[in-house]
Amino acid sequence: MKILVTGGAGFIGSAVVRQFIAETEHTVINVDALTYAGNLESLSDVRDHPRHIFEHVDITNHDSLTSVFQKHQPGAVMHLAAESHVDRSIDGSAEFINTNIVGTYLLLECSREYWNRLPANDRQSVAKGEKSGGVTKESFRFHHISTDEVYGDLTVNDPPFTEETPYAPSSPYSASKASSDHLVRAWYRTYGLPIIVTNCSNNYGPYQFPEKLIPLMILNALDCKPLPVYGRGENIRDWLYVEDHARALRYVLAHGVVGRTYNIGGLNEKTNLEVVNSICDLLDELRPLSGLPEISQAPDKLSKSYKSLITFVTDRLGHDHRYAIDNSRIANELGWQPLESFETGLRKTVQWYLDNTTWVERVRLGTYRDWIATEYTKGG
Ligand code: NAD
Ligand code: TYD
Repeated sequence: MKILVTGGAGFIGSAVVRQFIAETEHTVINVDALTYAGNLESLSDVRDHPRHIFEHVDITNHDSLTSVFQKHQPGAVMHLAAESHVDRSIDGSAEFINTNIVGTYLLLECSREYWNRLPANDRQSVAKGEKSGGVTKESFRFHHISTDEVYGDLTVNDPPFTEETPYAPSSPYSASKASSDHLVRAWYRTYGLPIIVTNCSNNYGPYQFPEKLIPLMILNALDCKPLPVYGRGENIRDWLYVEDHARALRYVLAHGVVGRTYNIGGLNEKTNLEVVNSICDLLDELRPLSGLPEISQAPDKLSKSYKSLITFVTDRLGHDHRYAIDNSRIANELGWQPLESFETGLRKTVQWYLDNTTWVERVRLGTYRDWIATEYTKGG
């Protein structure tokens, strides 16, 4: 089958693409605008593979999207393309409204126009439907990839989010994703487009753009720069290793029930301070400060641990306190469980950033960090 993946040059999308190429027979049509977050170097292992086809297309361009559908006749769409970073959405939300809401709307419309022309599942239509490569109205899927942030936040004593938790997004990012989720469900209820929605917790792992908590802390530490912890570092996230997420998405696409929502979480709730401390412990072991030339020349500049770089800064506006996912539905109905513990996943991630300095240097250029430096000042 041909699977049209949007955002396949991003962090999670590239993991999905790599898995499809390595572990299945599917062909991937990778539709990506290559924004600051999209990077074809994240696909270097599969970029020239005959089952990987890259289309440099912006999902807000209806005509280009329509051409992609006509040219490739996909059997499914997995929609990951988005503006994905909360701090950027606080700085300026226009791109979030444009890509996450308008882009999703246009992708839904292109999918619907394409789907309307597919043959039904009866034998005669399938026989006639050779041009559609065996794709039928019943077999087609539109899988929308979303976030647990649409549910708002939890207090420490609340039960985790289920698929029935009411929507209460806090940030421009989560509001734009909530909006896109509603559009996707409306296209199912109104037009019958066969959709599935997944809402996932915080991902981490290789190839994540270093604006999100974990890669930012690893790379700042390696540069002996402050590790900016917002507020008191007590906010809680439920961390999922990106390869586990990609596998969950493949399970849902293959076995999920049309019209249904599946929450995906890592069962790894940690405070931000716990996460940053764990990163420092790993770096103390894998790249001790005493071994760095600049430190050995000025040993009193830093104490023996990267933890001395932790700096508490101004809190994020509207900062969600806690996210946590109840995984029961996807575990019981589809048999998916995360395989990676936070300890093993974080070790792999830290080691990957130590080993992939060229990738890091190439994605780091840009003026965005200047805004962050002004917005989050030391000591709040
Ligand atoms: P990312 O920011 O790393 O990648 C986004 C990708 O989308 C990039 O390759 C970018 O070039 C592409 N893109 C952006 N705007 C586009 C446009 N207009 N047209 C075409 N392509 C465009 O994001 P990610 O972390 O990989 O997240 C992927 C999806 O998963 C998003 O929808 C996000 O909301 C969702 N999600 C992310 C997390 C997380 O922790 N990262 C958690 C839950 C859900
Ligand atoms: P982030 O990785 O931006 O993901 P999200 O906001 O989608 O959960 O942030 C994760 C948590 O880490 C969040 O509570 C904000 C906090 N944080 C910091 O304390 N310092 C930072 O420099 C960043 C980027 C995030």
